[in-house]
Amino acid sequence: MKAILLAGGKGTRLRPLTLHTPKPVVPIFDRAFLHYQIDLLKQVPEIDEVILSLNYQPRRIEEVFGDGTGTGVRLRYVVEPAPLGTGGAIRYAAQGATGTIVVFNGDVMTSVDVNAVVRLHRQRQAKATIVLTPVDNPTAYGLVETEADGRVRRFLEKPNPDEITCNTINAGIYVLEPDTFDRIPKDVSYSIERAYFPSLIERQEMFVAYVDRGYWIDIGTPEKYVQVHRDMFDGKFAGGVFATADPGKPVVSPDARIEDGVELHAPCFIDAGAHVKSGARIGPYTVLGRSVIVEESANLEDTIVWPNTRIGQSAIVHGPIIGRNCHIGRNAVMKSASVIGDKTLLTDYTTL
Ligand code: GDD
Ligand code: MG
Repeated sequence: MKAILLAGGKGTRLRPLTLHTPKPVVPIFDRAFLHYQIDLLKQVPEIDEVILSLNYQPRRIEEVFGDGTGTGVRLRYVVEPAPLGTGGAIRYAAQGATGTIVVFNGDVMTSVDVNAVVRLHRQRQAKATIVLTPVDNPTAYGLVETEADGRVRRFLEKPNPDEITCNTINAGIYVLEPDTFDRIPKDVSYSIERAYFPSLIERQEMFVAYVDRGYWIDIGTPEKYVQVHRDMFDGKFAGGVFATADPGKPVVSPDARIEDGVELHAPCFIDAGAHVKSGARIGPYTVLGRSVIVEESANLEDTIVWPNTRIGQSAIVHGPIIGRNCHIGRNAVMKSASVIGDKTLLTDYTTL
């Protein structure tokens, strides 16, 4: 069985972070996002190949995973000649495949039991099975109505507020039969949400829902990107480093250097190569990426700092996400949930 990870979107809502780092490989703590999805797929013994469906900045994604050694799965890259939309991308990536396919949107963090979803798909002899998750506000998602027997009655992508009839949405995880793909036109953009799913309902094909009430989040906006870190710090999702580390204590790489006289307040995370100098305060919900330098007496909390950035002496940084290779000057003050792109230089004493 093959798995396709849809990893070709531009990640516009995460700009400027995604200008040089495509969304599928934005760091979540110390690992590129897709590692978490690959971990989940490894729990399905039948999956013998993971296909990354790429379009935007494919080389940058290939650089992260290389030939797949280190992921523990057989990995293949398929790069579309042009963006084909979610449906077109699936057909393009699935060329030659005959068996059942598992598909993930490349930006959902979840603990769903994929084996159970595949089992349901087989039991119901479905053409397509879709994972649903309950959310408070479905307008940013695909609203999915179901029948009492679990079949999908209606799929409505990005509903208006007055069109909301239930709270279950498309979680972006599907099990599909490729013999349904011939309806997807070749070489033009085609949406699985707006065209393929409605076509299954129209044709009365077996299209069933698996409702999951476990952890689920789409990391595609700055708010959600921060939220997933908070949730892992709070023990709501135990992937990656928190599969073993205790978020109740500061989590510090053995290859980080923390000088005497530094205050560390849990939950916080400090990656390898980071250097935190004397008198600095690393407050709760702070993430310091690889080789970040925090100068003397800087004060951080609620902040995510990407690799190779330097925070100047006595700077006060509460709330932002800061990209790679930035320099935040000494005594600078940042007190908002701003999103700072790579290589930003903030002059000493700047207040944001
Ligand atoms: N290869 C490829 N080509 N991938 C694409 C393309 C494309 O042309 N367009 C989008 N993708 C990938 C994105 O990278 C992302 O991983 C996934 O497809 C979904 O696209 P998003 O842009 O993140 O869509 P969304 O979040 O607005 O909505 C989708 O996800 C929701 C759940 O998070 C829909 O599937 C909704 O129905 C769903 O509720
Ligand atoms: Mg998304």
